[in-house]
Amino acid sequence: MLETARQQFDVFAKLGNAQTNAPLRAQLKAKLARETPTPEALAMQLNLARRSGDLAATRSAIVELARLNGETGDFSEKAIVPFGLENPTGQKLAPLIVIDDFLQPDQMNALHRHACDTEDEFRKANTNSQSPAYDPDKRETLVNWHFTEMRDHFEEFIEQNLAEFQCILGLPAFVKERMELKMTCHIDGGFFRVHADNHEPITEAGRAITWLYYFGEQTPRYTGGELFLLDTELATGVRSTVWFTKVEPKPNRLVAFPSWFYHAVGPTQVECGEFGAGRFAISSHIRKPADGLGWSTEW
Ligand SMILES: [Fe+2]
Repeated sequence: MLETARQQFDVFAKLGNAQTNAPLRAQLKAKLARETPTPEALAMQLNLARRSGDLAATRSAIVELARLNGETGDFSEKAIVPFGLENPTGQKLAPLIVIDDFLQPDQMNALHRHACDTEDEFRKANTNSQSPAYDPDKRETLVNWHFTEMRDHFEEFIEQNLAEFQCILGLPAFVKERMELKMTCHIDGGFFRVHADNHEPITEAGRAITWLYYFGEQTPRYTGGELFLLDTELATGVRSTVWFTKVEPKPNRLVAFPSWFYHAVGPTQVECGEFGAGRFAISSHIRKPADGLGWSTEW
C-alpha cells in the first residue's frame, strides 16, 4: 500500500473512532436535550454519528433534522441516508441503503462454505474494469467471478427491488442494462483505496448502483474492512477528506449506494491468516444505458 493511502486510512480511522467521538457525541446529546435543537447542532450530531459508523443514530438524527425543517421524516426503513443531504462544506452525503439479516443464517453459512470450497478460483482483482492490471498500491482484493451459490437469489432480489432502490437512492427509473456480480474476499492486508466506480457523466452508460452483501463466519475473526462513503460534489468530483459515512462490514448485511460517490475499503486484519476467516462480500454494479431520463443532479 502506498504511504498516501496509509495516511488517508489513518485519518479515516482517527475521525471515525467511536471511542474518541463518544464524549463529544454525549456532550452534544446533553445540549440537545437541554436546549431547543438547532439545525446546526442536529447536523453535527448526524455527522458525528455517521462518521462513527452508528447507523441507527445516523438515521434518527436525519429524521429529527427533517422534522425540524417541517418535513415528515418518513423515510424507508432501508434508507439510512436518504438523497439530497449536504454536509457543512457543501458536498452531498452519499445516499445509503442498509439491510441487515439479509439472508437466513443457514443460507449465509452455505454461501460462506461455497466461498471456502472455491478458494482456488479466487484471483487478485484488477484495479478497475478500464485498467486490466493488478496494482497492489490501489487495492488488495481476491475475486471470484464464477461463484454459483445463491447467484440466482441475488439476481432475482435485484430484479424485484430495483425500483425501490432507485427511489431511495434518488435515481430515475432506468432500465437495467446488465449487472456485474462477483464474490470478493479481503484477507489480511486487504484494502481498496479511495475511488469512484463511475467517473462518467450521469447521463452516460455505466455503473449506476453499487451494492455489496457482506458475509462470512457468524462471529468474524477479521477486523477493519469498513466501507467509507465519502461526501462528494458530483459535478466536480471533489470529495471531502473529513466527512464520510462509515459502514461496518457486518456479516449478513447488504448495502447499496450510487456508483458516482467516492468510497474506500479500509485495511482488513485477519490475524490467523486463514482464507475462511476473511471479510467476504458479494460485490455488484448495476449498469444503466445512456438515456434521456432527465437525470437529477440533486445529489
Ligand atoms: Fe468501488
